[in-house]
Amino acid sequence: MTRNGHLFTTNEYEETVAISTQPALLTSVWERSDCELIEAILQFYPSIEPHPILDSTHNTGRMWKDSDRQVVSMDIDPQHNPMILGDNRVMAGVPSNKFGVVVFDPPHVGPQGRDKSIKRFDVDFGATMECGKEHNWTLSYLYPPFLKQAKRVLKPEGLLLAKITDMVNSHKSRWAHCDFMLMAEEAGFTVCDLIVKIRKGPMMSTKWKNAHHARKRHCFWIICRNGTSCERNGCKRS
Ligand SMILES: C[S@@+](CC[C@H](N)C(=O)[O-])C[C@H]1O[C@@H](n2cnc3c(N)ncnc32)[C@H](O)[C@@H]1O
Repeated sequence: MTRNGHLFTTNEYEETVAISTQPALLTSVWERSDCELIEAILQFYPSIEPHPILDSTHNTGRMWKDSDRQVVSMDIDPQHNPMILGDNRVMAGVPSNKFGVVVFDPPHVGPQGRDKSIKRFDVDFGATMECGKEHNWTLSYLYPPFLKQAKRVLKPEGLLLAKITDMVNSHKSRWAHCDFMLMAEEAGFTVCDLIVKIRKGPMMSTKWKNAHHARKRHCFWIICRNGTSCERNGCKRS
């Protein structure tokens, strides 16, 4: 048998047809870019059109660099010149039931250094939100008010895609991805999947003399649906 000019045995032909008519193959460990992963996610999970897209923590939009998708940008920091300048825990003026997808890539560390000056790293990675004793040394307090707003502005069955990194703060591991998944369920989302994204090398600094924890070279992408079904229904894709 032939398909696209290739010669196949009957078994090979049936396997090829079966694979090519399935949604794009997505595995739970991802070694390529965020941009490619978002695209794979948007081919795989939606049960409604994944459009419009709200990036609620846009910064400079590095994760859309190689994407053709139209994105509505939101950020709390005016330096990034977002379309919507505002706090994603409030989303003032953003209509309800508007978006097919909301993307969330919050800061995963607090301000670096003890002298309170804003560092380049802080601006580039949004490490400007307080993360001290009063917040139990985690940034997870940011999640519940954001999740409430994300649910409001998403259409029913829309997707929330969150990039979450665990951290060590004040000598203890802080499991932000666990907090996020629990809080998302509490907010009424269905947590559909967890994808581990890995990079080649961990972040390193000559200032780090002693290591007590494994250097992280992964983060998590968490896929949540604004509905009760873990799996897509309708299979409508763009
Ligand atoms: C890790 S960066 C996002 C990087 C971005 N995904 C990219 O690809 O370039 C986090 C961003 O979230 C923004 N941010 C932090 N808290 C926010 C809030 N409450 N509302 C909106 N943006 C916030 C920061 O200003 C920062 O630009």
